[in-house]
Amino acid sequence: MQKSYLHKDCHSPVSWGVEPAAASPSGLPYRELEGYPLSDLARPKIIVRQTGENNIIFADWDSLNIIHDVMIEVMGSNNVIYLGSRTYIMKLRLVIQGHNNVLGFGERSHFGGNRMQISGSNCAIICGNGFGIQSNTMLLAKENGCRITVGDDCMFSTDIAIRTSDNHPVFDMKTKERVNMGQDVNIGSRVWIGENAKILKGVTLANDVIVGAASVVTRNAPANTVVAGAPAKVVKTGVFWYRHFALMEDYDPYNPTPWPYPA
Ligand SMILES: CC(C)(COP(=O)(O)OP(=O)(O)OC[C@H]1O[C@@H](n2cnc3c(N)ncnc32)[C@H](O)[C@@H]1OP(=O)(O)O)[C@@H](O)C(=O)NCCC(=O)NCCS
Repeated sequence: MQKSYLHKDCHSPVSWGVEPAAASPSGLPYRELEGYPLSDLARPKIIVRQTGENNIIFADWDSLNIIHDVMIEVMGSNNVIYLGSRTYIMKLRLVIQGHNNVLGFGERSHFGGNRMQISGSNCAIICGNGFGIQSNTMLLAKENGCRITVGDDCMFSTDIAIRTSDNHPVFDMKTKERVNMGQDVNIGSRVWIGENAKILKGVTLANDVIVGAASVVTRNAPANTVVAGAPAKVVKTGVFWYRHFALMEDYDPYNPTPWPYPA
């Protein structure tokens, strides 16, 4: 089996299709992993459907805890997929439709049955370490050049959609110009998104934001706030959250306790 390694230069915009900062917001150790051409990949519980060439996947396979199948569908070329080490995957579908994209997540992540999809070229979905999402939650980076970035230790509940695009164009009747262009979504670290929330194009959530259940977030949220409603508004300020019901004196927001699985 042919092997290759990502090296320094792979952080260049040319190699990744994205700028270095976006490619590795939390210093993901891309360079430590072996990269395999997707076409050569033959692993249990990994189903690959591919058209195109020069698509590479990086993973520390022995450290992954895959319960059900991981489906990887790539229609395009020069794409990079990164599966962070020590990650627990109940079920996961990764879809790339386009070229020069990057899709990956960091160490200690947890997937409860999710879809991460890129539809376009030069796009990215990059999630940091300790990323946890429950079932039926979708991240969609659609429209050329659009990115979703997620910081470290974020927690997303069920039935959430995060999208860079409305999926259909809206036009101004007079000018005939499009009024709803796709835009990046940037989510900071330690962001908790409640059940059934929707995060729409162009939104930036700062660190330690909590998004209320069933919210539709259309505008940015400042750090340490609760936002809720449709459209979501700031309903509380000066708060933080913790993953466990642990003793609060143990809390250190910049050195959070890792989620306790996989062991
Ligand atoms: C409805 C929609 C297409 C409008 O897009 P747009 O024309 O770019 O609208 P804007 O983002 O400029 O928002 C205009 C105003 O409506 C509000 N708004 C937009 N979508 C909203 C929603 N779903 N619920 C409540 N308010 C909403 C915005 O907050 C904004 O108000 P403000 O200016 O006071 O802050 C888009 O917001 C949306 O809901 N996209 C998701 C579409 C979808 O579900 N696609 C799935 C596949 S079909």
